[in-house]
Amino acid sequence: MNDMAAARPSGAPVAAAAPAIELKDLTMRFGADGPSPVLAVDRVSFSLAPGEFVSLIGPSGCGKTTILNLLTGLLHETPEGKLEVLGKPPREGNPDIAYMLARDSLLPWRTALENAAYGMEIRGVPKQERETRALDLLKQVGLGDFADKYPKALSHGMRQRCALARTFALDSPVLLMDEPFGALDAQTKLTLEDVLMNLWSAHRKTVVFVTHDLAEAIALSDRVVVMSARPGRIIADVPIDLPRPRSVRKLQSDHRFHDLYAQLWGLLEQGTTGDE
Ligand SMILES: Nc1ncnc2c1ncn2[C@@H]1O[C@H](COP(=O)(O)OP(=O)(O)O)[C@@H](O)[C@H]1O
Ligand SMILES: [Mg+2]
Repeated sequence: MNDMAAARPSGAPVAAAAPAIELKDLTMRFGADGPSPVLAVDRVSFSLAPGEFVSLIGPSGCGKTTILNLLTGLLHETPEGKLEVLGKPPREGNPDIAYMLARDSLLPWRTALENAAYGMEIRGVPKQERETRALDLLKQVGLGDFADKYPKALSHGMRQRCALARTFALDSPVLLMDEPFGALDAQTKLTLEDVLMNLWSAHRKTVVFVTHDLAEAIALSDRVVVMSARPGRIIADVPIDLPRPRSVRKLQSDHRFHDLYAQLWGLLEQGTTGDE
């Protein structure tokens, strides 16, 4: 982790760097003023150093998406506790954050290039600059030859590559990804995980990655944060000390990978069946 932060082009040593994301005793109660409030997130604390890749895993309904939405400032109900992105409280439309969801959400009437440039367009990046950057990113995700194709001509995996290009083209220091490969078949998913790892190695963003796929979490992450069933609490924060660069496919035959898998599986089981 230290080496990684120190290797950032403009990076101060990690000891001196403020966290990129910080949650301290974050509690979220939906409908707090109504007759049946829902305690979704209960005193959650964790932080990410700049450039760290952290996965968030836990049973469905434990508050993972809620945490991402809170980080983006998209929720209008107010949480308790501390929540900061690059030292500031969340605010809607924060350009420091790029958000990627499971659905590819490409616009069908736009080409791959225009889709990859779309986020930048919303942020007011000049046309020439955004097209140059979008094309560069399309090449990085292996879609250089498909820039003028429409989404209907692309496979599901290619559409998610395009969405990755759009997300990274924004050049936001913080990426939030909510099960971005959740709807892909197993083989395509492995390929997209490699594409994401290559992008992350090249661009070194701070990433919060939500998944329910333990193998995916281990393969990609510096740490995996495990949450309990609702109300979501942190059960464990597990460092993934596998060397990088990693090959997602090769990891499947590494015994350390399987040890981590067993450890995380045990923690999830404990969080699902344990009392509240
Ligand atoms: N806008 C909302 N109003 C009320 N309850 C909500 C709202 N959004 C989420 N919840 C509840 O909060 C809990 C956590 O949801 P969510 O963050 O979507 O979980 P996850 O992403 O881990 O599956 C769930 O019980 C869900 O029903
Ligand atoms: Mg969710």
